[in-house]
Amino acid sequence: MSNNLPADARKGVNLAETSIHKESPFVESDGLLLYKDGYKTPEFLSSSFCIHLFAERVIVDHYVLLFPDSETLTDYAKALISYNAKITEGPGKWPDDFCPEQNLLPEDASMYFLSALMPSGMILVLLAPNAPDEQIASLFQEQGFNTVHHVAILVDDIYTAAEVWQKKGFIPLSLTPQEDDSLCQWFFRNWAGQIIELICRQGMSKETFSCENIAGLRLSELAA
Ligand SMILES: [Fe+2]
Repeated sequence: MSNNLPADARKGVNLAETSIHKESPFVESDGLLLYKDGYKTPEFLSSSFCIHLFAERVIVDHYVLLFPDSETLTDYAKALISYNAKITEGPGKWPDDFCPEQNLLPEDASMYFLSALMPSGMILVLLAPNAPDEQIASLFQEQGFNTVHHVAILVDDIYTAAEVWQKKGFIPLSLTPQEDDSLCQWFFRNWAGQIIELICRQGMSKETFSCENIAGLRLSELAA
């Protein structure tokens, strides 16, 4: 088994599903990932978390989807709830509504944010701009709504996984992972600008960020 895959089901993902290789929702184009048209449905994404990514078999911890505004995002969230997803973070203005004591991030790094735990155990993160001058708005204006803001890969050993991805040309955006009691996270970017996140979980927590990790992660991403 690849060192890039969690060894057991203790992370809360239904690994019975992962014995079968699922089709990826992504198409790769010169180092960048794009969602395939029609593949961003709750049904498809919930079941397709064990995929090949840059020729590596991975378990996706969370997919990130972009929306033009909070209303469109909310409509999609309603579809998720109909699909028996559970809203686990948000909705709200990130990071202000979640980590009000943090003011290290520039104002244009804000976004409207919601995450949902899918029946399979994987997570969908939904992002939309609060205002037209936010970075998230620039991203989809330049690259479209099928752009992959980042994809988070669940790993057991973040340093071993980091070696795998560095050999593929992904460069860490911080010298070390950001780590607290429940989450260990490390962002990487390749030559084309595609960002992936390696994430390691303690216990059964399902958050996709922590206030302790957030400033280091985002500041390193913005500075890179
Ligand atoms: Fe993430």
